[in-house]
Amino acid sequence: MSYQIEYDRSVNDAEGFWRDQARTLEWFKFPEKILSKGEDGLDYWFADGEMNTAFMALDHHVNQGRGDQTALIFDSPVTNTKYKYTFSELTDVVARTAGMLADLNVVKGDRVIIYMPMIPEAVIAMLAVARLGAIHSVVFGGFAPPELALRINDAKPRVILSASCGIEIKRVIEYKPLLDRAIELSDHKPESCVVFQRPQAAASMIAGRDHNWVELLARAKAVGCTPVKGSDPLYILYTSGTTGKPKGVVRDNGGHAVALKYSMKAIYNVEPGEVFWASSDVGWVVGHSYIVYAPLLQGCATVVYEGKPIMTPDAGALWRVCAEYGVSILFTAPTAFRAVKKEDPEGLFLKPYDLSKIKTIFSAGERLDSPTEIWLSEVTGKKVIDHWWQTETGWAITANLQGVEPMPCKLGSSTKPVPGFNVEILDENGHHVPRGTQGYIALKLPLPPSCLNRVWGDADKFRDSYLSLFPGYYASGDGGYMDEDGYVFVMGRVDDVINVAGHRLSTGEIEEVIATHPAVAECAVIARNDDIKGQTPMGLVVLKSGATITEAELHKELIASIRANIGPITCYQDTVVLARLPKTRSGKTLRKTICQIVNGQDYVVPSTIDDTGVIPEIIEVLHSKGLVA
Ligand code: COA
Ligand code: AMP
Repeated sequence: MSYQIEYDRSVNDAEGFWRDQARTLEWFKFPEKILSKGEDGLDYWFADGEMNTAFMALDHHVNQGRGDQTALIFDSPVTNTKYKYTFSELTDVVARTAGMLADLNVVKGDRVIIYMPMIPEAVIAMLAVARLGAIHSVVFGGFAPPELALRINDAKPRVILSASCGIEIKRVIEYKPLLDRAIELSDHKPESCVVFQRPQAAASMIAGRDHNWVELLARAKAVGCTPVKGSDPLYILYTSGTTGKPKGVVRDNGGHAVALKYSMKAIYNVEPGEVFWASSDVGWVVGHSYIVYAPLLQGCATVVYEGKPIMTPDAGALWRVCAEYGVSILFTAPTAFRAVKKEDPEGLFLKPYDLSKIKTIFSAGERLDSPTEIWLSEVTGKKVIDHWWQTETGWAITANLQGVEPMPCKLGSSTKPVPGFNVEILDENGHHVPRGTQGYIALKLPLPPSCLNRVWGDADKFRDSYLSLFPGYYASGDGGYMDEDGYVFVMGRVDDVINVAGHRLSTGEIEEVIATHPAVAECAVIARNDDIKGQTPMGLVVLKSGATITEAELHKELIASIRANIGPITCYQDTVVLARLPKTRSGKTLRKTICQIVNGQDYVVPSTIDDTGVIPEIIEVLHSKGLVA
C-alpha cells in the first residue's frame, strides 16, 4: 500500500477511512455515527458506538483463544523481580480489581486517580477503571504533593489508588506521605484510598479512608465490562500548558481504541504475539498509549520496566531487556539514548546481547538530535525512527509508517504526516508559508480519532487554548517547517513550555514557585540546553531591594522549593541574579532572546525593547558565570 493513497483517503474520506479501521475492533454495538458534532459544536468520533476499552484489550483476546499468550512482562532490576501475566491471568486480575473498585462504589463516569510506580498494579488499575466505564487519571510519581493536589481538586476522584513506595535506582521513595499531604492540601477529599504495600516500605494507613490493596482484592469478585459510548471519556491526563495550572486532556474511549489499534500496524508494523516495549512511565502519555493500551489492543505483549536506561545496573539495561524478552519494537525518549551514549559511546554494553528480534527503534518526547540518531543506528544496526506527538493527540502526528510504506529517514525530521493528521505550516497571521520556511505547525480540523476535544472541567478551554489562534486549525504549540518532499521538521515549542528529559514542564509554573520566595521581586524562567536532558530550567531573578541573600543561598532554597512544589523531575539547575530583566515597552519579558543568548544561538533584539543597554548587561553577567562563551 502506498503512503500517499492511504494518506489522501484519510483526509478526503475521513469517515470511510476510520469506519474501516473501527471494524478491526470488537464493539458491543458498532457506531453508526463515525464523525459527528456534539452539542458543544465540537467533533466527536464514534459517538453512538458501544464498547469497553478493557474488553477490547483483554477479554476479546481470551475469547479469540489467545488466553495463554503473554500479555504483560514485568521486569524490575531495582527489586530483582521478573514475572509475566498471560492474557487470561491479566483479564482475571483486572476483573477482580474492577470488583474491588466497585465495592468502593466506583461507577461509570467516576474518576479514579492512580499515583503509582512502574509496577503491574498500575497497569491493572488503569484497565480495571476502564472496565467499570470509570475515568482514570494517572499522576506521575515524580510530582510533588501540591501538583497531585491540583489534580485531585480538578478531577475530584472518588478513589485514589497508590503504593507504599517507588524505587529510584537504589532510593526508596515513600509515596504514601506524599499522597497524605496532597489530600491535606486539596479541597476535594476522596472517599477511599487503596494502597499496594510493597516490601521496601510500609505505608501507615488512615482508618476509615485507607485500605490495603491485597486484602481488599482478596475479598473482591470479578465483574464484567460496563458498556460505554465511543465518546465517553476513558481518561484524563494532565499536561503543562502556558499557564501555571495544568490542563486535563480528556481522551475518549472510541477514537482512542481505533487510532491506537491502527497505529500498531500502520506505524510500528507489529503483529499480535510480538513484544512491544515503550520504555517510559504510565504517568506520561507514551506510557498510557504504548505501555498499556495499544500493545494490548493489538494482542502484543507489553513490558513494564521498573528501572532506568543506565545505572540499573549499567548502560546495557535497554539491550538486556530487549534480548531477554525478544522485544521487536523498542520505543523511548532521546534523553534515554543520550544517557546510554554518554556511558557507552562504543556500544560495548550492547555486545553480549542478541538483538536480532528488534525490528525498529522509535523515539519521541523531544526532537531526536542527529548525533544521537546516527550513533544509535550505528551501534545497533537498526532502523531508528523519530516520530512527533503530544499528550493532546495520544499518538504520532508525523512518523515513518513502517506498516504502510517505509520511507528513507531524513536526519532531524520526524518524516511525514500520519494518516488523519492534516499538517500545515502557518505564519502568525494564519497564512501558509512556503515549503522550507519555518512557522507554526497547525493541524487542519477535524482532528483524527484519539485527539482531545475538551479539557476536563472547563468548557471553553479547548477552544481558547487550541482553536482560537488559527480559525479552522488546532495550534500544536510547536514550530517547524515542511521541506519540498513533505517531510516535517519539528524545531521546538513556540510557547512557554519546556521539555526536560522528555517531560513537559511549564516555565510559568516554575516562575510561580520562584516568585513566592521572599527575596524575589521578579523572575523569568528559560530553557538551557543540556547534553543529556535536552533542556533544563534556568531562573533569572531580580531581588527585592534590601535583600541580602547570596545567589548561592537563593539557588539552594529555590531548588528545595521547586522540588517540594512541583517535583524532583523539574531538574532545576541554575539561578542567575540580575539587576533587571529585559522587557518590551509594553512590559513583556524577552525570555526568547535570553534563551537564545544562553544557548549560543543567533538572536535579534526586538525593536520594541525598553532599554537596549540591558542585553549587554545580561551578557556580561552570564559571561562572568561561564554561562555563555
Ligand atoms: N518517582 C519519584 N521520583 C522520580 C520519579 C518517580 N517516578 N522519576 C524521576 N524521579 C526523580 C529522580 O529520582 C530524580 O531525583 P533526584 O534529583 O533526587 O536524583 C529526579 O526525579 C530527576 O529524574 P530523572 O529525570 O529520571 O533523572 P535521572 O538523573 O535520575 O536519570 C535519565 C536520567 C536520562 C536516565 C532519565 O531521565 C530517563 O530515563 N529518562 C527517560 C525519560 C522518559 O522515559 N520519558 C518519557 C517520555 S516519552
Ligand atoms: P508531551 O505532551 O509531554 O508528550 O510533549 C509534547 C511535546 O514534546 C511536543 O509538543 C513537542 O514539543 C515535543 N516532542 C515530542 N515528540 C517530539 C519529536 N519527535 N520531535 C520534536 N518534538 C517532540
